[in-house]
Amino acid sequence: MNKSSPVLELKGVGRSFGGLIAVNSVDLEVAAGSITSIIGPNGAGKTTLFNVISGLYAPTRGEIMLNGVVLATPDHKTEREALVWAAVAVTGSVLGAVAGLAIDAPAGLAGVGAIVSSGGILLAAVARPSWYTRLCSRLGIRRSARPNDVVFLGVARTFQNIRLFKEMSALENVMVGTHARTEVGLFDALLNTRRFRQTESASETQALTLLEAVGLQKQANVAAKNLAYGDQRKLEVARALASQPKLLLLDEPAAGMNPAETEQMIELIKSIRDKFGVTVVLIEHDMRVVMGISEKIAVLDHGEKIAEGTPLEIRSNPRVIEAYLGRGAATGA
Ligand SMILES: Nc1ncnc2c1ncn2[C@@H]1O[C@H](COP(=O)(O)OP(=O)(O)O)[C@@H](O)[C@H]1O
Ligand SMILES: [Mg+2]
Repeated sequence: MNKSSPVLELKGVGRSFGGLIAVNSVDLEVAAGSITSIIGPNGAGKTTLFNVISGLYAPTRGEIMLNGVVLATPDHKTEREALVWAAVAVTGSVLGAVAGLAIDAPAGLAGVGAIVSSGGILLAAVARPSWYTRLCSRLGIRRSARPNDVVFLGVARTFQNIRLFKEMSALENVMVGTHARTEVGLFDALLNTRRFRQTESASETQALTLLEAVGLQKQANVAAKNLAYGDQRKLEVARALASQPKLLLLDEPAAGMNPAETEQMIELIKSIRDKFGVTVVLIEHDMRVVMGISEKIAVLDHGEKIAEGTPLEIRSNPRVIEAYLGRGAATGA
């Protein structure tokens, strides 16, 4: 992958809810390792854009690429998929029959071929490995990655309203995040196998490292609900990082924070970008945060991107001042 090619690319992305166009044809490129902010008035479509990128909603138009792979797109010609399954099953039975004739084997071999090939292709359709997605894509069949696949491909997010497991400790909350990348299954957990114990211990070590990175190592065993508000926000960031994302989406990370907590959050976002090399996109209303850490800012209004540029450019853009910042922001008041 070319270093200068974007990690995230939005091409004409739109999402409607019935007659309401929440996001309308947004184009955006996010460079690897950068920090980009999305700003705009309430209801502008910022969270909806995150929901579409993270696979919670399918876009109603456009395309989202992550490192050149289609992450989200409106479902397209998916009814053709059944033809792919049928073609593989028929080919399998024909091959079975031919092999049967060649080695003079019982006629049942054609049936075995049919069962193996149709079972195999149906499994592939459920698991959707990358070769299967590529095959479909070549035949014009496209669908969005599912939310769990989006996590696996390297996208993690936090939510505008905190969503932690309240009764679980800080450490356990982060360990849940690490499980997106661990290979143990239900049986390992039920039987408490050696593999399960080793994986859990590795998860714990990783979770402790992440708690330390966000400054919560001392609170590892405190229940999430008993953490200070600012610390709960940090914990969400640590949990998002636990899935080892390439792209981290933060929805209003400093919302409701006091000035000291906000300052810490700014430093935290910068430090995790540097330490973990993640690309960060954040939605934020607090202009201290936005102007302080963004390399690029995109402005949404009524679902449309009305401006994009450096903090300096955005601060002095008349359209942005009109729609969102107000006159005070332009003069720094
Ligand atoms: N699931 C949904 N169903 C219907 N309308 C929605 C849904 N999610 C968001 N909207 C609408 O889309 C618009 C944009 O909302 P949102 O993306 O939350 O804005 P922002 O995060 O910029 O404040 C709003 O008018 C909102 O009511
Ligand atoms: Mg929002």
